[in-house]
Amino acid sequence: MCGIVGVTGNDNAVKILLEGLEKLEYRGYDSAGIYVNDQTGEDYLIKEKGRISELEKAVGPEVHGSTGIGHTRWATHGGVSVENAHPQYSQDHRFYLVHNGVIENFKELKSDYLTGTTFTSQTDTEVVVQLVDKFVNEGLSTKEAFVKTIGLLKGSSYGFLLMDSQNPDTLYVAKNKSPLLVGVGDNFNVVCSDALAMISSTHNFLELKDGEIVTITPDKVVIEDQSGNIINRDPFYVEMDSQDTDKGTYPYYMLKEIDEQPNVMRNLAQKYLSDNDMPNIDENLIKAIKESDHIHIVGAGTSYHAGLVGKALFEKLTNIPTDVHVASEYAYDEPLLSKKPFFIFLTQSGETADSREVLVNVNEQGYHSLTITNVQNSTLSREADFTLLLNAGPEISVASTKAYTAQIAVEAILAKAVGMAKGQIVADEFNVRQQLGLVATAMQAIIDEKDSIEELAKQYFVKADKAFYIGRGIDYFVSLEAALKLKEISYVHAEGFASGELKHGTIALIEEDTPVVGIITQHKTAGLTRSNLQETLSRGANILTIVSEDLAKSDDNIVIPTVDELLSPLVSVVPTQLIAYYTSLNKGLDVDRPRNLAKSVTVE
Ligand code: F6R
Repeated sequence: MCGIVGVTGNDNAVKILLEGLEKLEYRGYDSAGIYVNDQTGEDYLIKEKGRISELEKAVGPEVHGSTGIGHTRWATHGGVSVENAHPQYSQDHRFYLVHNGVIENFKELKSDYLTGTTFTSQTDTEVVVQLVDKFVNEGLSTKEAFVKTIGLLKGSSYGFLLMDSQNPDTLYVAKNKSPLLVGVGDNFNVVCSDALAMISSTHNFLELKDGEIVTITPDKVVIEDQSGNIINRDPFYVEMDSQDTDKGTYPYYMLKEIDEQPNVMRNLAQKYLSDNDMPNIDENLIKAIKESDHIHIVGAGTSYHAGLVGKALFEKLTNIPTDVHVASEYAYDEPLLSKKPFFIFLTQSGETADSREVLVNVNEQGYHSLTITNVQNSTLSREADFTLLLNAGPEISVASTKAYTAQIAVEAILAKAVGMAKGQIVADEFNVRQQLGLVATAMQAIIDEKDSIEELAKQYFVKADKAFYIGRGIDYFVSLEAALKLKEISYVHAEGFASGELKHGTIALIEEDTPVVGIITQHKTAGLTRSNLQETLSRGANILTIVSEDLAKSDDNIVIPTVDELLSPLVSVVPTQLIAYYTSLNKGLDVDRPRNLAKSVTVE
């Protein structure tokens, strides 16, 4: 949450910062700001409420410089206002700071050290920049003051980028549990929360570790550990096309990302499977899972929902008992563990604080773990024993779509690999490569019918104030994801429900015209879900069906191509993504930037 950018040694600093902030807008979009300095004493601080476009309008042609920092905010401490937007600055306007994260002891620091200081905001961030100023006024250098201040922060997650207007070509950086990268340019350097913000300036990035202090000038990046030792680290190359981060001709990223799913499926099949469906996956990973006696999948939101489908895949294909955990619950209420558990973290961003908290705990206990993520070198990727990348390309819309389907596809490939290694299944029994090909074609067929799904969205959901998705087993898991998608971007109060459970209470909510969508892809439960739909119809519901072709009847609404039942979520979820998209669009909402949300949730 919150996006940070910085640059030193580039006369296009303003452009680089604003373009970087646009790319990071998914991390928060309450307010934004930049501070730039041209090294001759001219400097500019511009902050605005609202989107980056508001900030861009406020940045006049006179604003120029070669060093600067910028921030896009998702408010934690202090409401949404220009004063609370970053950069925050010291009372003498010497120091400027942008920050991602939460300083838990900021009130104590304020009363212990800063009683005589004039504050202009309600943020925890301002305490940090005022402390740096205080310590510099007491005789420390800027770096010493920065280090001393950071040493006073308690149990906090943070990413900081500091500028001293008296020494403006230097950026000071520190991080803890919060993502920050340094990008290495040609006689300039950049800093960002996510490589995609700076990919048009460089592909070479330096990973930063928690607790390190980094000093950056146009031609030098000095990384020091907590004891002040200099660390030499080589940059890694980020393979990303700057076009991957553009919307192109799409009105919203979400539609682009839904449309990309068939290709994501094909790419994953190619990356992780040979032509004859042999898994191309680290043998040590397969061995570690094979030898475990219990799999625990951990995730949040959509990733948790992908984990639920993973449970079905792992139990069926590997015969290893599998549980799925909401990360924020697991972190503070650990279940009883068996002797050899194996942990799988599902996380699109690789930065979700709730999931990371569990991983830290798992590492402390010495258990083996895998992170399945879309972001190379992300925190959860670095900290787990193994990583499998989703290779889905950047997912920018706040509502996750292609990451969900990619996570399920990777789980299927992995489950097959472990199942084969255990002798649980033989190679031909579940041909994932062939199935993912069918899935890609099926997804494309649904996407090609998006206009008719838009009509259904208008007819059923745009005027609704509540809606239900129902199903059984795997279809229930998809119902949960379908409902989350609808509520988060269209603000229709939607719930996913196990269809048999409705009659035990929730059916009381069904009124005249309440939309109820039945997801039906499993032979075993199709008839039962249809009966449950009828029960809601009898009470006035406006019912709609999403049904696999082989189970379809003449009056079904959305008939989807049939694929292996275990992989049906990859197909049945697509119409629900489109329903959510078109409901939001036709309500005139900002599809990619729903209210109160941000992507990459780096606070617990
Ligand atoms: C919903 C959505 C969120 C994320 C959740 C976890 O569309 O995107 O529910 O799935 O915040 O994020 P990651 O997968 O990055 O750990």
